[in-house]
Amino acid sequence: MSNKYYQAGLKRAPAVEALFNKIAGRYDLINDLQSFGLHRLWKHKLVSLANLTPGASALDLCCGTGDVAFSLAKAGAKVTAADFTRGMLDVAEHRSLALPPEYRPQFIQADALHLPFADNSFDIVTISFGLRNLSDEFAGLAEIKRVLRSGGQALVLDFGKPNNPLLKKLYFFYLKRIVPVIGKIFCGDSDTHSYIYESLLRYQAQIGVQREMNRQGFQDARIHNLMGGMMSINIGKKSP
Ligand SMILES: C[S@@+](CC[C@H](N)C(=O)[O-])C[C@H]1O[C@@H](n2cnc3c(N)ncnc32)[C@H](O)[C@@H]1O
Repeated sequence: MSNKYYQAGLKRAPAVEALFNKIAGRYDLINDLQSFGLHRLWKHKLVSLANLTPGASALDLCCGTGDVAFSLAKAGAKVTAADFTRGMLDVAEHRSLALPPEYRPQFIQADALHLPFADNSFDIVTISFGLRNLSDEFAGLAEIKRVLRSGGQALVLDFGKPNNPLLKKLYFFYLKRIVPVIGKIFCGDSDTHSYIYESLLRYQAQIGVQREMNRQGFQDARIHNLMGGMMSINIGKKSP
């Protein structure tokens, strides 16, 4: 298996950044096509599980083109949104101009593994389809915990691994054989979207993320599966 956007070790981050800079302009369209629009529901669920109180401070990591950041802001949070890919942030910032100023998140170019925020800064940290892309997903969780306030909540939405073997087979077939065709058609490069399957194979997914949240001392670490575990939301609290 070889994919130019999936690199080991220190080359991982620049390859991921190159991937998202390449697809930024088509990202929203392809998301709607490959998920049949369902990513909107999954992101809505993520934000509703955050149980935001008005004025809560929220950080959306790996914010991409801004979907989750905008929803958090509309739900009443004061939102900071971070991503390391300039092309994705440009789309997010452009989209935010269509919103009333009070719904506009503050967008920041930053690496999720080295956040420019003090310890204990946010009530909520979300990361949607981002953790799987980090060169060290467990270091990413530790960084999330560092910037969360005591009692604050981390919510991680990503592709999951279903328990049901037939469902897993069909779903992996879809990701391995069909989704790359969408990449080829819209980005001229099937690697941009076979990356999803390849990164998911190596990702610890919902069970591994829950185990790591427990190991790092998050409280009440739990999994909210969607569509039989094809998608999942991991939730955990920083102990008070
Ligand atoms: C699949 S997109 C998800 C975008 C958005 N959260 C969503 O759900 O639509 C993954 C995003 O993670 C960002 N990303 C990957 N690794 C990162 C890192 N180490 N630091 C910051 N952003 C990163 C990419 O630039 C990309 O915008």
